[in-house]
Amino acid sequence: MKIVTVIGARPQFVKAAAVSRVLRESVQEIYVHTGQHYDQNMSGIFFHELGIPEPDYNLGIGGGLHGQMTGRQIEAIEEILIRESPDSVMVYGDTNSTLAGALAAVKLHIPIIHVEAGLRSFNRKMPEEINRVLVDHISTVLFCPTDIAKNHLAREGITTGVFVVGDVMMDSLHYFSDIAKTRSNILNLLNIEPQKYILLTMHRAENVDDDETLFTVLKALNTTRERIIFPVHPRTKSKIKQLLKQDRLIISSNIVMIDPVGYLDMILLESNAKLIMTDSGGVQKEAYWFRVPCITLRDETEWIETLESGWNQLVAIQESAICNALETALPSEIHPDYYGKGDAAVQIIKHLKEMARSN
Ligand code: UD1
Ligand code: UDP
Repeated sequence: MKIVTVIGARPQFVKAAAVSRVLRESVQEIYVHTGQHYDQNMSGIFFHELGIPEPDYNLGIGGGLHGQMTGRQIEAIEEILIRESPDSVMVYGDTNSTLAGALAAVKLHIPIIHVEAGLRSFNRKMPEEINRVLVDHISTVLFCPTDIAKNHLAREGITTGVFVVGDVMMDSLHYFSDIAKTRSNILNLLNIEPQKYILLTMHRAENVDDDETLFTVLKALNTTRERIIFPVHPRTKSKIKQLLKQDRLIISSNIVMIDPVGYLDMILLESNAKLIMTDSGGVQKEAYWFRVPCITLRDETEWIETLESGWNQLVAIQESAICNALETALPSEIHPDYYGKGDAAVQIIKHLKEMARSN
């Protein structure tokens, strides 16, 4: 079996690390890195730290408008698929790289395997929602993290080739948690102690691209005395620079802005945080797995299970709402296993082999 895997953005490296480790024991896998994320601390460091094989193709296509990025990626991936003639194409999640890989494959009648299928925010203004809906509808094999995701697909008429396997990000978390404790020195480097800081990440276009949103979040955080550790995504960094130039933003000294960190540093920062505030999909789940209360700076989430048990709460971007949430976000007594056992990659490969045998 020969599979071409298309990846390109930070969360996809974390997911692919888990799957490729198992997949490559029995399958020929070719990596296409679209180049959507390209800084060393958004891409290279993940390959190095997580032992992900070097990409066979690196397209170097990142930045620009959605149509431009996706269109250029489709063109380049199509050429590779014609050359490699794989049995299937694997894509992860909901980024523009996911859509480009899937569209290039479907036009060549190559079956698509979608990992993290069936997620929905029901907000069609999010580029990710468009990407994931389209990819689910053209995929042949759909690996869902939860029954809820499977039900979303069923409601849209997608019932064949659908398997609930758990969450591949949990595989990575299990695999790398102890490794992070021995290899990461981030708490010392930042001179912080466990439970004495809040971890903040923010990069979602609908939050960051709007001046008022970023302004409001940072204003609310200025009012707390808590230390805030804020690894700043490149999208957010360029917006903050712009706002600082306009003299509109005041960032108080309790907010420690750092460059994006590698995965090992990140999971150590997460597991030791008193509280996590984020708009990231992956970080919401990781907060849940580490049993750290999470404030999600969005109106909706795809990971609705985390809300049920009270570990995660959606908070509107209003100064008073954020300040209130900072006071009230506490650990919950209940912590169901919503996302499987951390063996999603093994389940995925088992299903792929069974399908190959029956074809
Ligand atoms: C993308 C995904 C989003 C995902 C996020 C993970 C889409 C539509 N969005 O958003 O779903 O949650 O990745 O982090 O696919 N940039 C750099 N250096 C980099 C990477 C990006 O400077 O290494 C700049 C780009 O040039 C661009 C901006 O950051 O100007 C945003 O990057 P882009 O990949 O378009 O979107 P993300 O916000 O990263
Ligand atoms: N992450 C990281 N360093 C950072 C921020 C995030 O390693 O500075 C990891 C995080 O632990 C998670 C993944 O990146 O595994 C989530 O990616 P991101 O928040 O960029 O995207 P999303 O999950 O929202 O699509």
